[in-house]
Amino acid sequence: MTEPLQYDLTLYPSPVLRKQAETVEIFDEHLRGIVEAMFHTMRDSKGVGLAAPQVGLKRRVLVMNHSTEEGDDRAMINPEILERSGDLTLYEEGCLSFPGIYAEVQRPDVCRVKWQDLDGKEHEQTFEGFESRVIQHEYDHLVGVLLVDRMSSADKLRNKVALENLVYDYKAAQRG
Ligand code: CO
Repeated sequence: MTEPLQYDLTLYPSPVLRKQAETVEIFDEHLRGIVEAMFHTMRDSKGVGLAAPQVGLKRRVLVMNHSTEEGDDRAMINPEILERSGDLTLYEEGCLSFPGIYAEVQRPDVCRVKWQDLDGKEHEQTFEGFESRVIQHEYDHLVGVLLVDRMSSADKLRNKVALENLVYDYKAAQRG
């Protein structure tokens, strides 16, 4: 029996997190393998969502599970947010690329999303509440937007040392 492949997480401030992810054109076993490994990585890290740039892949792929129940696994290929609506709500978010950092982020409650599944079939659905928030957070990753960009200046100040430590660790790893 082979262990499912697992990725290393890409942490802030790695430049890959700032890149625009590219459209997936080929729906094959390789894509399935990537998605499976992303789910494995997400669960292992106790996350509710993970976007491909967070494992160093510049592709429009996200996986999520807002409830942690098996039936709620959702993989979106080439997602597109068609519309955001509803009340703006503040809610504390974390991010696997910012370990130990949490910040209140304001987002519209509702979003309408179009995406493709692993077979390339198109879907469109409206989401609200926590599921909508997870989608909006992960979607941000596909266009290079990060938690640190959505933080209030008060939250930035509160997380200043933790953010500086991430930058320090990144530079130290670059030096080898
Ligand atoms: Co994130």
